[in-house]
Parts: sequence; C-alpha cells; structure tokens
Amino acid sequence: MVAPRITVNGKVPPISAAGPHMTFLDFLRENGLTGSKEGCAEGECGACSIMVARPGVHRPTDWVAINSCLVPAAALDGQEIVTAEGLGAMSAAGTELHPVQQEMAVRGGSQCGYCTPGFICSMAAEYYRPDRCGGVGPADPEPEASAGEHGPNGFDLHALSGNLCRCTGYRPIRDAAFAVGAPSGSDPLARRREQAPPAPVATEVAREGRIFRRPETLPEALRLLRDHPGAVAVAGCTDWGVEVNIRAQRADYVIAIDRLPELRELRVESDHLEIGAALSLTEIERRLDGRVPLLSELFPQFASRLIRNGATLGGNLGTGSPIGDGTPVLLALGASVLLADADGEREVDLAGYFTGYRRSVRRPDELIRAVRIPLPLSPVTAFHKIAKRRFDDISSVAVAFALDIADGSVRAARIGLGGVAATAIRARETEAALLGRPWSAATVDAAAQVLRSEGTPLTDHRASAEYRSAMLGESLRKLYAHTIEVQS
Ligand SMILES: Cc1cc2nc3c(=O)[nH]c(=O)nc-3n(C[C@H](O)[C@H](O)[C@H](O)COP(=O)(O)OP(=O)(O)OC[C@H]3O[C@@H](n4cnc5c(N)ncnc54)[C@H](O)[C@@H]3O)c2cc1C
Ligand code: FES
Ligand code: FES
Repeated sequence: MVAPRITVNGKVPPISAAGPHMTFLDFLRENGLTGSKEGCAEGECGACSIMVARPGVHRPTDWVAINSCLVPAAALDGQEIVTAEGLGAMSAAGTELHPVQQEMAVRGGSQCGYCTPGFICSMAAEYYRPDRCGGVGPADPEPEASAGEHGPNGFDLHALSGNLCRCTGYRPIRDAAFAVGAPSGSDPLARRREQAPPAPVATEVAREGRIFRRPETLPEALRLLRDHPGAVAVAGCTDWGVEVNIRAQRADYVIAIDRLPELRELRVESDHLEIGAALSLTEIERRLDGRVPLLSELFPQFASRLIRNGATLGGNLGTGSPIGDGTPVLLALGASVLLADADGEREVDLAGYFTGYRRSVRRPDELIRAVRIPLPLSPVTAFHKIAKRRFDDISSVAVAFALDIADGSVRAARIGLGGVAATAIRARETEAALLGRPWSAATVDAAAQVLRSEGTPLTDHRASAEYRSAMLGESLRKLYAHTIEVQS
C-alpha cells in the first residue's frame, strides 16, 4: 500500500501517495485542508492541532487534540480526524460556526488567524471532554468573572497550554474558552462519543525502500523488531516526530506500537500497579485519577496537554533523555521496567536500567511493555521541576522524592534526579543521610549538603552547574518546609 485511508471531517481524502515519514500535517495540506498550519514542526506552537477519535476514558470515544506535525499520516490509517475546517460543517446545524469558533469570533480571539485553527481544535477537544461540565446548559454570561485557570464552565485552560498566539494576546482567547456552554444533544461530535472509535488497522505503507508497519499483535511487533535490525518502534511520536522534522532522521523500518492492547493495560494488584507503556500520559492521568500523587504532580508539569495526549511512558524511557521528567519520578516510586521480546519477558529495576547517555540494558529486539510500581506508595512525595517557564518547558533539574516518615523519623527514602548526570539517577548518598534520622531541620540541612553534591551537573544554556547543585539542596529544604506547613 502507498497511501493510508484516513477519514477527515467525514470523508476519505484521495491522496495519491504518503511515504512512511510524511507527517499528517503535510497530508492534510496536500489535500487542500490548509487550515492546520506549520509554525514550528516540533510540537511547541500548536498551530497544527487536530482532533482524533480515540478510546475514551469515561465514554467509548474521546475527541483528543494532538499535534499533526509530529504524527506520521501512516500512523492514522483507518482513523477518524476532525480539523478546524470540519468543525463548523459537523456542528449541530451543519452550516454555522461551531460554538467554539463562534465564541472565538465574537470575543476577538483571532487577529492574523495563523494560530486560530490550532486553538479551535484544542478548545473543541476540551469542549467535548465528558467530565468538563455536568449537563447541557447555557454559557456563563460573565466569563471575565473567573480569573483562574478553570472557567466557570469547567474549561481547563491547560487544554490550551500547547497553543501559542503571537498577536491576539491571550485574554480574548481565555474569554472565549470560558464562554462555551455544553454541547447540545443533537451535536454530531458529542453523539459520536457514544460509539467506539475506529479500531487500529494493520498497516503497511512502503515508499522508496522504506516501510511503516502497524502490526496487530505484540508477538508480531516483536518478531518484526527481531527480524529488522535498526527498526524504530514508535508510540506517540512526540520525540520521533521532532527527530524526523528537525534532525531529518529517517528509518528504513518504522513499527507503530501505540495501539497494541498488551501495551495499553492499567492494572492495580494488591502489591503493585502496572502501567502499559503505550498509554498516553493523559490516559494515565485520567484513569489513575489521583491514585498516585507523585504522578499527579508530574503530569501538569510535563510538556503541554497536546503533547501529553500523545506522549507515553514507554517513549519517555525509550528516548532515555537525562532531562526527561518521567524517569526521576519513576525512580522515586521504585519502579521496574517490563521488557518483552519474541521469547518472553523480563523485569528490570529502573535504578539499573540506564547504563549511560541514552543507553540502557534494553536490547534492540525488546520493547518496554509496561512499568511496574510497587504498592503501598510512600506517603510523603513531591516532584520539583526547575525550569525557566512554569509550564511546557524542559527541566534544568528535576527532583522527585518519596519518603516514609513515621514517629518523626525517616523510615525509607527514594530520591530520583534528572538533569545532573548522563542518565537520571537515584540520590543514594542523600537517601543514606536521611535514613533512620529524625525528620528535622538539622537532618534536612545536613542531607541538603549531600544532595548538592550528587551527580555531575554540567553548565549549559539552560543553567550553570552551580545553579543545578544549589537547586538540588533547596529542593529538599522546600519539601521539608512543605511537610512542616502541612502539619501545622
Ligand atoms: C514540545 C515538546 C515538549 C516536551 N516536553 C517534555 C517534558 O516536559 N518532559 C519530558 O520528559 N519530555 C518532554 N518531551 C519529550 C517527549 O514528549 C517524551 O519523551 C514522551 O514521553 C515520548 O513518548 P512518545 O510515545 O511520544 O515516544 P516516541 O516519540 O513514539 O518514541 C520515542 C523513543 O522511544 C522509543 N519507544 C517508544 N515506545 C517504546 C517502548 N514501548 N519500548 C521501547 N522503546 C520505545 C522509540 O523507539 C523512540 O526511540 C517533549 C516533547 C516535545 C515535542
Ligand atoms: S507546527 Fe508547531 S506544534 Fe506543530
Ligand atoms: S491570531 Fe495571530 S498568531 Fe494568533
């Protein structure tokens, strides 16, 4: 096959050819759907945002906004997509602006309009989030009344955290977001949520000697990985898409693993929790619903909603970036990695998983199937991401704590660090400096000195080595101050 069949706004566009690395954004634009724009091609601006029908958390289908610049068109074979062009045409009346478009228009949410189709799609996905507002109801008459990050209509402004606008200013956009009501009972996209999304389709797109394959089962994926050395397995493509677009990476064989059922389970057992490697961070966040407080702290600080709708834990560990945010948190949780190959599965302690800069014990023929987190969880946890911006930024340093404190002393301590060595690491010496000691200012001061000297931080354009070390120590003091504040 040379072209994927993708339903866009209710029709299958007649594209002539799409190679394994053609992005869905290019696919759209080559088909004349030029509403979605390319601003950055690396997931930073959201001008390319679209909605895809995905398995729902509370209903059979969720409309999920993703960056079309990062996802290969082939990865969406057989799927159902809605773009800004489709939203009006697919609204309840069929001929008018979609309610989200209407609010953006009347509240001055668009000037040059370059970012607008992307904002519209991210906003529409939040508009259709099943647990956003209880029932069908009118818009709040005074959206300005809410200056916070959630509107009176339940709209979470973080749904727009991956969308940038350089000329309107964000207040009119926020006003529009806080003014939308609930979808009407006859809204076709609201009704569409009651049926299952399209199932993944076994796909083979080949062009110029390169192949994109979507296998149907995990054993098939593992056989392909074994038989094609150098093949790249892709899940959400939030890292891979940047490699393709910005670093011109190409692979002879790309294997899509994001819809494999074995990689999409979330299981809670009596002594552990298992999270499938291909669940998106948004799915994990919504399905766990606060059950793992440390993960609840991680998610809002990890990229943007658009990225989290695609990004997976398997991909975060698979990339192996020393400044990735998932690893320090999983280290603090004492997680292990379940690695599958064509012959079986093995469990590896995450603390021993990375062997060097972007290197791990995972063989090329193995996939991460899941991460396992032991239960019960430590009661005192925190994730401190030190970055230049509050949201949607890369960590200069990341510190995750998980402590057991009983009768005033530290009974167990796990501390995961990112950004201070070639891999994320456990702060073993600091853990030892805390263990068995009273949870007091004196212990914390002494342990903070030890923490400052963990790892081998470097100076780069994000932060100096001295700053990184200082932040480590301050991070422990901040945790202590917080626990004292909570007690008093
Ligand atoms: C704008 C932007 C912001 C970002 N912000 C953050 C951030 O704040 N914090 C952060 O940590 N990261 C961030 N990232 C990086 C990225 O989103 C994460 O690393 C994400 O978790 C990758 O998951 P994915 O499913 O998209 O991986 P993919 O891009 O699909 O794959 C990445 C790599 O992992 C491998 N891989 C994927 N799944 C598996 C598996 N199951 N087994 C083995 N190997 C696998 C692939 O072969 C590939 O080499 C950001 C990226 C972008 C574009
Ligand atoms: S073009 Fe900027 S996020 Fe896709
Ligand atoms: S309206 Fe011009 S960039 Fe947003």
